[in-house]
Amino acid sequence: MPTVSEIAETMDYGPAPEAAGEVMEWLKARGTFGHYIDGAFTGPGKSFATANPATGAVLARVGHGSDADIAAAVKAARTALPGWARLAGHERAKWLYALARHIQKRERFLAVLETLDNGKPIRESRDIDVPLAARHFYHHAGWAELVETEFPGHRPAGVCGQIIPWNFPLLMLAWKIAPALAAGNTVVLKPAEQTPLSALAFAGICAEIGLPAGVVNIVTGDGATGAALVAAEVDKIAFTGSTEVGRTIRKATAGTGKKLTLELGGKSPFVVFADADLDAAVEGVVDAIWFNQGQVCCAGSRILVAESVAAAFQKRLTARMAKLRVGDPLDKSVDVGAIVDATQLQRIRDLVARGEAQGAILHRSTAPLPAQGCFYAPGFLTNVAPANIVSEVEIFGPVATLTSFRTPEEAVELANSTRYGLAASIWSENISLALDVAAKVRAGVVWINATNVFDAGAGFGGYRESGFGREGGREGMREYLSAPAPRERPEAEPGRLDSGPNPGPNRGPGPDALPDAPAKRGTTPIDRTAKLYIGGAQTRPDSGYSYAVMAKGREIGLAGLGNRKDVRNAVEAAHRASGWGKATGHNRAQVLYYLAENLAAREAEFARRLMSAGVARPAEEVALAIRRSFHYAAQADKFDGAVHSTKSAHVTLAMPEPFGVIGLACPNDAPLLGFLSLVLPAIAMGNRVVAIPAPSMPLAVTDLYQVFDASDLPGGVVNIVTGARDELAKVLAQHDDVAAMWYCGGPGGRAMVEAESAGNLKATWTFANRDWRGADGQGREFLLRATQVKNIWIPYGE
Ligand code: NAI
Repeated sequence: MPTVSEIAETMDYGPAPEAAGEVMEWLKARGTFGHYIDGAFTGPGKSFATANPATGAVLARVGHGSDADIAAAVKAARTALPGWARLAGHERAKWLYALARHIQKRERFLAVLETLDNGKPIRESRDIDVPLAARHFYHHAGWAELVETEFPGHRPAGVCGQIIPWNFPLLMLAWKIAPALAAGNTVVLKPAEQTPLSALAFAGICAEIGLPAGVVNIVTGDGATGAALVAAEVDKIAFTGSTEVGRTIRKATAGTGKKLTLELGGKSPFVVFADADLDAAVEGVVDAIWFNQGQVCCAGSRILVAESVAAAFQKRLTARMAKLRVGDPLDKSVDVGAIVDATQLQRIRDLVARGEAQGAILHRSTAPLPAQGCFYAPGFLTNVAPANIVSEVEIFGPVATLTSFRTPEEAVELANSTRYGLAASIWSENISLALDVAAKVRAGVVWINATNVFDAGAGFGGYRESGFGREGGREGMREYLSAPAPRERPEAEPGRLDSGPNPGPNRGPGPDALPDAPAKRGTTPIDRTAKLYIGGAQTRPDSGYSYAVMAKGREIGLAGLGNRKDVRNAVEAAHRASGWGKATGHNRAQVLYYLAENLAAREAEFARRLMSAGVARPAEEVALAIRRSFHYAAQADKFDGAVHSTKSAHVTLAMPEPFGVIGLACPNDAPLLGFLSLVLPAIAMGNRVVAIPAPSMPLAVTDLYQVFDASDLPGGVVNIVTGARDELAKVLAQHDDVAAMWYCGGPGGRAMVEAESAGNLKATWTFANRDWRGADGQGREFLLRATQVKNIWIPYGE
């Protein structure tokens, strides 16, 4: 034992272990846990062990949920749903407050349990995980109180299946369960197999406060149990975990009508500009990549430093790294604890070794590691080429890459050179620069001079392959509610556009089949031939084919038969028109007003066209299309974001941003109005679109080409590919450079689009035909669907 004077000399830390006795006794008394179903724990069935990764010691055994367990839990949740949903929000709020208070009362117990099961330092479970979990229940108790007035007409989504990972077990549970219950849903939650214990402790709290049976059900198990939950009769799936499993779930839920939110992986940039407070930024790295052993979906795992300060930054970072204390997670002065299990530890080792083999240089903390347990020394990698595996793949461990950049433009380019888009952290004392970069990075969460800050009051969630949907705040509540459903209307028959030997309607190939001027073909008057519209120019279809457009049994014109190549060209053109997304709302509004006026100037002509095409009530449709154009012109600079009231000293801006390029498969009904009802809100919000108009009546839309041209709509903002809707929609759904996809049509097409979109995990909106002339044809829902929220956290105060 060192003497006091020796300690004063070295200033070394002594051991400061948090007592684990109470938790160990609780675990010992339970031995094997059953599932928590319908308000009670089931008896022990098939089970598996959960261990402390810091020591390897088995903590308890937990049930391995079977299909039957999942079915029983879903049934209990279904039975409890009407009663819970019917409760006044005020009554549900009381239950949520009770949950929050009981979590708070047991903060120490839960923190120790979490640390034992997960290996995270007690400092983090005690100061971050558990208090934030309580905060989520408090915050959402408020939403329960307000849901009826803040979301009028909305209903709960129903029974929610929730699958969570092992990195923040109790916190992820809170992120999932609190909003679900507040909105009036009932839940079946499956914790990760590595870390089931805090969820079981939470189940105990539910039992203790007497939460109505079946409102919360917890079934423990592995991926197979999770897959069974995805396949069960639930109304919504909320998943946090790997992108790979997220993709599987996207495919499994395609066409089922289940609501889906996915919070997946990331490879988030941590950008340090030359004028940053370097010491603060170094401390930021500690919180970005060494926090929770780097097992954080939004970890700042790619450190990008301005070249002029890169050497100085690396020196300070190395010095700071040497001070990190790695060891017993229960020790209150330990910074870095254990990796969650041996599999994850091996995964980190393998990835880093592959990175080194590809030329990266690993700099590691030299802190002594415990002799046993899943420990990994924190570090960072330099000399990392962009193609190195560690630049691209989520390591999910305490190792970041460190590279440099020269200009802000290059920083943005590097920041965005990932298929993910979860978070970004920007360090600069220049607020204009920081906000400029915040606007340009493609990420759902941006922290300025901060990192890994979370609060129940702000939405959290990603762009691109980091998933879709938001958790937290108003944005998160919406994911657990169903907006008043529009009445479905049977769709007009799209007709057959495929060629056949007889009586195939196709014409072609070759330019002869595509007369530019009105032409006569035999006894059938062909008054029009429409081309595609790509990049602001009328374009012949790649196939050289066109198809006959019929009305009242008469051929009234030809439309281009677009194919895969045309769609690809259209997507490229849409990308080239990215300036539209950067234009101000005011500028977009001006173009859309002009468009509305030009359409109005040709109102009678459009009505005549629609009449000759056999469209019912043509004058009304055109009049409504004009009104709709004015409506979305007005919205272009009105639909805006919010400043969230978050707990810390931050201004948290919730900015609705365009997705980028959206694919639109338009209704076959109301061929002009249905088309504009989708195109206008999408472009008003700054997106560019590739739209497939009504297959049976594309000529209603192809006349718009001149209107677009006359309205100064930049080429490439609206691209139109006519042809077989579902075939073209499939190409769009599969396209990696299409960020979102809307599909109006039958159940088969909806399922196809959802399944095919799994590749780049694009956000999809698929829906049945509706009354485009009524209130369902226009409104906020379209604007919400046209945007994704970016939350930008800006600190204030000294
Ligand atoms: P995982 O995605 O397999 O596990 C997350 C949850 O999904 C667990 O509850 C698991 O039981 C469940 N699950 C697994 N397969 C399923 C299926 N087919 N259907 C339904 N549920 C299923 O993640 P894993 O294997 O634990 O970790 C692998 C990698 O994933 C990590 O190294 C990390 O890169 C990433 N990851 C990302 C997380 C995030 O927060 N974004 C969290 C956990 C892992």
